[in-house]
Amino acid sequence: MNSTALAEEAKKEKKKISLSFIQPSGNITLGNYLGALSNWVKIQDSGEFDCLYAVADLHALTVRHDPSELRKLIYQALATLLGCGIDPEKSIVFLQSHVHQHAELGWILDCYTMFGELSRMTQFKDKSAKYADNINAGLFTYPSLMAADILLYQTDVVPVGQDQKQHIEIARDIATRFNGLYGNTFKIPEPYITKSSAKIASLVDPTKKMSKSDTNANAIITVLDTDDQIIKKFKRAVTDSGSEVKMGEGKDGINNLIGIYSAVTDMTTEEVERQFEGKGYGDFKLACGEVVADRIRPIRERILDYMNNKDYLERVAQRGAEQASRLAQRTMDKVFKKVGLVAKPRG
Ligand code: TYM
Repeated sequence: MNSTALAEEAKKEKKKISLSFIQPSGNITLGNYLGALSNWVKIQDSGEFDCLYAVADLHALTVRHDPSELRKLIYQALATLLGCGIDPEKSIVFLQSHVHQHAELGWILDCYTMFGELSRMTQFKDKSAKYADNINAGLFTYPSLMAADILLYQTDVVPVGQDQKQHIEIARDIATRFNGLYGNTFKIPEPYITKSSAKIASLVDPTKKMSKSDTNANAIITVLDTDDQIIKKFKRAVTDSGSEVKMGEGKDGINNLIGIYSAVTDMTTEEVERQFEGKGYGDFKLACGEVVADRIRPIRERILDYMNNKDYLERVAQRGAEQASRLAQRTMDKVFKKVGLVAKPRG
């Protein structure tokens, strides 16, 4: 094979990039697992992608926090990625703050992101209503840092839940604007969202999404809940006054439970409805609790093991940061050149 053919071959073998992050802003929930993490693992195990998965610890600073609690949640989030099946031998796993290029590109992209488009972000509007006494600049420019996370690695797909779609759209807009000004610099990423688990709802108020920061423990299933807690929470899950296990308009509670059951068992929602024909809500809630407890149990046990092995977690984070930083620097070099900054002295 001559050198051109070899180069062609190498190009063909270059895999697509999958990247996604999670904030260490509370105990990771069944919503995070079904909407995002379980897809991260599927994509990793397909062998078709080079994967980068990280803990978005810089993003977590946008909300007031207790420093020692945050540090604990960062280790816990890392342990959760591994416990859910992210394998540091197959994927690059790291903490966002350990790769300095994120903050650097975040600042540069701030200068290519418009006040108007940031003002339209629904997450900004929701969070500024929720944390009215702390509407800080980081909360406002959150999407440009997230765009930097994605664009640094020339990402092809971003596996996320529905609530992050708007942030991926703005990352695409920022990349397109930058490419338009300076020529091709960033790959334009695509969201990867699975319909059935894109928006897992709260068990107490099924019109709201299940969220790590919910203060009502009954509203959320976390990956650290015991079997008993999981089953109890499902038994108490809010549903309407009907009894038939069937999806329907205005039946948010039962729709959510059918969605969860179908995501965990890999059945279609029609198959779930058929399986529970003639059964009432009580039987179905118990069955939901049981399948979720079965799925979470081994994950919880692995997370607790990893949390007891801080040295290992630190080694994983260090290696991941080195690998990620090397890749990120390639994009940073390009960006420095394009915008007219002077290349940094090496070594
Ligand atoms: P975060 O930490 O809020 O959520 C992590 C992932 O879980 C998904 N998710 C859900 N999916 C279904 N149902 C739910 N109830 C549910 N709740 C959360 C989220 O969509 C997300 O995929 N801004 C991001 C973190 C981030 C990021 C990135 C993501 C920072 N940089 C770069 C992708 C790429 C966030 O706060 O996710």
